[in-house]
Amino acid sequence: MRKPIIAGNWKMHKTIEEGEKLVNLLKRQLYDLEDIDIVLCPPFTHLAYIADMLESSNILLGAQDMHWEDEGAYTGEISAPMLKSAGCKFVLIGHSERRQLFGETNETVHKKLTSALNNGLTPIVCIGENLKQREEGVTFALVSEQLELALKALQPERLKEIIIAYEPVWAIGSGKVASSEQAQEVHRYIRDWLSKNYGLSLAQEVRIQYGGSVKPDNIAGLIAQADVDGALVGGSSLDADSFCAIVKIVRDPTS
Ligand code: PGA
Repeated sequence: MRKPIIAGNWKMHKTIEEGEKLVNLLKRQLYDLEDIDIVLCPPFTHLAYIADMLESSNILLGAQDMHWEDEGAYTGEISAPMLKSAGCKFVLIGHSERRQLFGETNETVHKKLTSALNNGLTPIVCIGENLKQREEGVTFALVSEQLELALKALQPERLKEIIIAYEPVWAIGSGKVASSEQAQEVHRYIRDWLSKNYGLSLAQEVRIQYGGSVKPDNIAGLIAQADVDGALVGGSSLDADSFCAIVKIVRDPTS
């Protein structure tokens, strides 16, 4: 059984004060949930502060991006050892907004993934096709290329330290969620790809999140799919009630 994982990606939203309010509400509503990983990914400026707030809670901390070098003359960048020392356990890598707007490539995704693992952070590697690619029927080819280049030369025993987030770009922030069947079809493809390259038993251990307009009213259908192990939530993670509702449905789909 794979442990479900829900991550909230705040993107460039919330001041530290607003973040503090949200975290307090989440702690109050989620304090007794077990057997699920709950991760918050606030902006860099909030990390050390929120890490203190989350200490001895059941909520974990992640960052939204990182640089692949440990240190150096890279103005404006943040490294894996810095994230680690700020209290992060997770880091998003290759989010489609980074790929589309900030020049992220499969090569930089690979370098970041390697550095995250070497520094004891769990990378959440984001992959997924845009609308044009879906319409052209190249979704599977694209997803396998993204996986191949991101995971290049990864030692098989490290595979389970990685989380994959399948996020169809056309569903992100658009209100257009992929249908549960569309999500499962690609998640299944991803697991088959992992199985082909690393063997079935290792592939069975990898958690694959779905992301793209996840909301309390569509999560139940998504999480019911055999290869959907959780969600990466953007917009709905900014509101305590919505995020908590999603977490609770994933934790107990019969509730
Ligand atoms: P969304 O964002 O839930 O607002 O669509 C998801 C993401 O970008 O990870």
